Amino acid sequence: MSAEHDRIRAVAWTEAGVRLLDQRRLPQEEIYWTLTCSSEVAQAITKMVVRGAPAIGIAAAYGVVLAARTCFSGTGSGWKRLLEADLCNLEAARPTAINLAWALTRMRAIVHDLPDHHDPEIALLAEARRIHKEDIAANRRMGELGTALIEGAAGVLTHCNTGSLATGGFGTALGVIRHAYSKGRIAKVFADETRPWLQGARLTAWELVQDGIPVVLIADSAAPYLLRQGEVQWVIIGADRIAANGDTANKIGSYGLAVAARYHGVHFMVVAPTSTIDWHLSDGTSIPIEQRPPEEVLTLGGKAIAAAGAEAYNPAFDVIPAHFIDAIVTERGVVCQPTHERMKVLLG
Ligand code: MRU
Repeated sequence: MSAEHDRIRAVAWTEAGVRLLDQRRLPQEEIYWTLTCSSEVAQAITKMVVRGAPAIGIAAAYGVVLAARTCFSGTGSGWKRLLEADLCNLEAARPTAINLAWALTRMRAIVHDLPDHHDPEIALLAEARRIHKEDIAANRRMGELGTALIEGAAGVLTHCNTGSLATGGFGTALGVIRHAYSKGRIAKVFADETRPWLQGARLTAWELVQDGIPVVLIADSAAPYLLRQGEVQWVIIGADRIAANGDTANKIGSYGLAVAARYHGVHFMVVAPTSTIDWHLSDGTSIPIEQRPPEEVLTLGGKAIAAAGAEAYNPAFDVIPAHFIDAIVTERGVVCQPTHERMKVLLG
């Protein structure tokens, strides 16, 4: 795999703070913000400057470094007590992707072990960097494991954005697509536009075009028709939270894709690091589904597209029952036809 397939970084640490590529402005503008306090990072997560399950976990981990820097420079030995409010604020930024809470749990463990009088920055930054690095390594591994499932030169359909922009780098589902394409296993990539935020049109197409991987964009509602044509052998998507039995929450529209894929005999692959698995939930029914503002549906590019007075329902995610999934690909291995029992091979 050449370096050109791993150029983009949505989140980066600099001495000045956390550097984020503003994903709301792509592909028209490539604007970077350097955030210097954790409340700005929490805001950036809520407002979708940075989005995608692993990427928001990584951004939050760096946010903890900023918070600790402020708390320690302000109060010295009282920093741990003060930090808790910042941790809670970061954790509340978005509810569905478990990677956010997972990254903060790791940061909390470091905080717990540090002495009160000690400057926490070096230890916390090292952990945030580890979380970031491990995510990229997991993506690379999943790229190989997912590719091994694809036979011939397949047509694939993906949903939302699961690439470098949504992760530490390289991507989950898009990492598989990148790797498989480089090995000649993929002939054609279709991407759903992914209303209302258009992550497919604005972000996935942007990443693939940059990599020189041809991409064909479709309206979300065209997906079942496309699957019926026989040009797609695999639907490949990411995940925001996977329950212990394999039920998977992902971008709204994923459930419909899974149902249509099963109906038309198209294989369905979920690609996610084990940090996306919530072992506390036995199934997907209690995964919290983020409800976002109605304006995101009622407007497009800042302009109203519906009659004034119309209401909107805007769930950001849905849940795919495990029995619609052919394979869950993680960095620890692949679970085919996931069940509670089969998922256990991924435990520690
Ligand atoms: O609302 P978003 O853009 O954060 O939703 C992102 C997704 O649903 C992705 O598919 C998911 O986070 C997996 S990203 C590797």
